[in-house]
Amino acid sequence: DWTPDIFVETTVAELKAKLGNDKVVMGLSGGVDSSVAAMLIHKAIGKNLHCIFVDNGLLRKNEFASVLESYKHMGLNVKGVDASQRFYAALKGLTEPEQKRKAIGRAFIEVFDEEAHKIQDVKWLGQGTIYPDVIESVSVKGPSATIKSHHNVGGLPDKMKMKVVEPLNTLFKDEVRNVGRTLEIDPNILGRHPFPGPGLGIRILSEITAEKVRVLQEVDHIFVQGLKDHGLYDQVWQAGAMLTPIQAVGVMGDERTYENVVALRAVTSVDGMTADFCHLPYEFLGEISSEIINKVKGVNRVVYDISSKPPATIEWE
Ligand code: XMP
Repeated sequence: DWTPDIFVETTVAELKAKLGNDKVVMGLSGGVDSSVAAMLIHKAIGKNLHCIFVDNGLLRKNEFASVLESYKHMGLNVKGVDASQRFYAALKGLTEPEQKRKAIGRAFIEVFDEEAHKIQDVKWLGQGTIYPDVIESVSVKGPSATIKSHHNVGGLPDKMKMKVVEPLNTLFKDEVRNVGRTLEIDPNILGRHPFPGPGLGIRILSEITAEKVRVLQEVDHIFVQGLKDHGLYDQVWQAGAMLTPIQAVGVMGDERTYENVVALRAVTSVDGMTADFCHLPYEFLGEISSEIINKVKGVNRVVYDISSKPPATIEWE
């Protein structure tokens, strides 16, 4: 019978045998899969696992600092790399969603590649690939079959010539979470909603600038923190906010305003392939809307997305 404890025990033993004294480099995302995979490898080889956590400037508010802190608490040998400006430069002038994804993916590989080369004699690339990712990358056969190119699925630079170690590639998501619990990984990491690799970059529906990111981070933070404070976070599969390029008229005191519309999206789902919009209480949505409009300069109207997938994808881009 499969149990998380037995899985951890046998996997750590196998990793020890396979990796010996070799060094492994691994990119972490703050998500469940890469964190659990890293902890397993860490248990097997300790400091020979070199983790890299890149700030692409498109993360949630405070995410880079707080996730880096959690990783350090977990004892991981992790280097945080702030590459925000580089990503913004790569994104300059781009508005088309797939072009943004490609630019973000390319910039990530460049940064990761540079950092990995600073470590001497690395033989292995660690990855948090889980079983559904394996299936997906086999079944998706080319651009015509790809609806959105999810760059962090199977996306490793082949010029890096490293062997790949993927300790979770036989597990489903719920099994990964159970393994994570056995490894005593921070519940904040284990229970977190999925977040796309391109981050807020595909939630700003226009050219990306540092200022727009800052605005969207504030909006997103109010919404997600509100879900947590109202005990709604765990009932939602994924939630976030979109910064639309639409400007609307409003009044603030005696003044006319002309500012952006943001859309909130919260869905229930099992695997992200299909999704329903969450029937969040109107009182809650009303409170969040007021808080956003009162606190976030540049936003004067909030709408809630009531579309289901299909046909409406979870992300707007
Ligand atoms: P859609 O928008 O296709 O999203 O309904 C389904 C799930 O995938 C996430 N998503 C991405 N994840 N890179 C990622 O790593 C991407 O380019 C990307 N696009 C969408 C989305 O957040 C949702 O969980």
